[in-house]
Amino acid sequence: MAEFWQAVDDYVSERLLGPDPALSAALEANAAGGLPPIDVSAPQGRMLNLFARMLGARRVLEVGTLGGYSTICFARALGEGGKVVTLEIDPHHAKVARGNIDAAGLGGIVEIRVGPAIDSLKAMIAGGEQPFDLVFIDADKQSNADYVRAALSLTRPGSAIVVDNVIRDGKVIDAASSDGMVQGTRRLYDYLHGEARLDCTAVQTVGSKGWDGFMLALVKG
Ligand code: SAH
Ligand code: DHB
Ligand code: MG
Repeated sequence: MAEFWQAVDDYVSERLLGPDPALSAALEANAAGGLPPIDVSAPQGRMLNLFARMLGARRVLEVGTLGGYSTICFARALGEGGKVVTLEIDPHHAKVARGNIDAAGLGGIVEIRVGPAIDSLKAMIAGGEQPFDLVFIDADKQSNADYVRAALSLTRPGSAIVVDNVIRDGKVIDAASSDGMVQGTRRLYDYLHGEARLDCTAVQTVGSKGWDGFMLALVKG
């Protein structure tokens, strides 16, 4: 089925997204730099861009930059005075991302913080960072529950939290899985099951990235 999903994503992209030289150039630079091809897909990137615009977001926090593909999608969504803060552990990924974001003409509104995301998040909470309107979590899946908990301290009622890769070919329902990513994702579901401050869902997706899905959460008033 995977080939068919790819073909449908290609059709959607051709009809609804059109050519995007900056994002294509970013993917080429990522490949040249040896980054893994695990960016969000083009239709997913547009979805994230639309989420930010639907929220009227001015400030977006991203956990997991890679080459900045999703970062660019968010940065484009923000109006005057907008800002994306994106957290990345790998200095090489951050360097490639910086090049891609600058080449897309978005350098002025994107701040990349290099280091373990949990440390950057704790520093931001301690430093009294202004609340973010949207948080996108897409880094090491083992830490997803900790990232959402931290995101709650960096948002306000009405902010949204989106988490990538919460279905993993359906493996998420395998309680006995020996895969750390699956167990980390299950810890996220367990945490959200008892988190009264968020209204949540998860939506399964298929496409060029296979069978996976997004968690969507709204911070309640
Ligand atoms: N959001 C990107 C893809 C991110 S891939 C896009 O769609 O374009 C996941 C990224 O998270 C990788 O670059 C990886 O180096 C980074 N990462 C992994 N563990 C991390 C950690 N503990 N802290 C911060 N970043 C981490
Ligand atoms: C992986 C990570 C991702 O963020 C993703 O979207 C797809 C795959 C991975 O680490 O395998
Ligand atoms: Mg992902």
